[in-house]
Amino acid sequence: MTIAHPAETTHCERHATVRHYLMCRPEYFTVSYAINPWMDPVKGADTAKAIEQWERLRETYERLGHKVSLIEPIEGLPDMVFAANGALVVDGRVYGAKFRYPERAAEAGAYLRWFAERGYEVMEPTATNEGEGDFLVLDRVILAGTGFRTDVAAHLEAQEFLGRPVVTLRLVDPHYYHLDTALFPLDGGNIAYYPGAFSEGSRRVLEYMFPDAVIASAEDAQVLGLNAVSDGRHVVINAEATGLIRELERRGFEVIPVDLSELRKAGGGPKCCTLEIR
Ligand code: ARG
Repeated sequence: MTIAHPAETTHCERHATVRHYLMCRPEYFTVSYAINPWMDPVKGADTAKAIEQWERLRETYERLGHKVSLIEPIEGLPDMVFAANGALVVDGRVYGAKFRYPERAAEAGAYLRWFAERGYEVMEPTATNEGEGDFLVLDRVILAGTGFRTDVAAHLEAQEFLGRPVVTLRLVDPHYYHLDTALFPLDGGNIAYYPGAFSEGSRRVLEYMFPDAVIASAEDAQVLGLNAVSDGRHVVINAEATGLIRELERRGFEVIPVDLSELRKAGGGPKCCTLEIR
């Protein structure tokens, strides 16, 4: 008989569900402007290296059994690789993006067209919002960020269009300008997050809603460790987020570390490159 050491005991068996992701190959990726503190146009970025890292991410999803669809990249839109910002898709209904900065404005139409051409019910938003960058979907609620990119008016608009309750959370640190840089769903009912990215009131909301959440350290947040993608069992996450990875493993998740260091120069990680089609 073997007796499990308490530290090795997982809370429960984790179950993956098959996902459908939309991604955009970073063919025109570079850092040529700065709209968040991670970006330095003087330093730029290595496009070939970004493509290589992105290809590994795409292969990872396919190896896990997920479906990956692709949208054609557009020259002159270097951030279009960050597909998460292109829309929010729930129950086949597509709430479009409306970008905060003119540098990315043209991406919204490209993403909305991709969905419209494939027969999805799309809505062109009136309120400024950056898609899944600031909207994260759980089973019973959608968590929505505001403070930098997405207006609260978009939270209401999305709630009305999608018929799901939306909870507003205020982001306060410019390094964590999108909700998905500071928080990710572990499954349909629990999350991991970095409290330092949120206002005092929003921290209390998160504590109230998710008493069993994984709390990430500043070190893990600084390598964009919260910009991770979970299918309920496998967590695809930046390899540098070592503390967070240890805690996820302790909780019974299968962690798949990836290297997206080149895309981090634009302030993005695995989740930013991934738009889930539900
Ligand atoms: N350079 C992009 C921007 O600042 C990065 C977007 C990252 N995407 C995300 N989902 N957090 O808009």
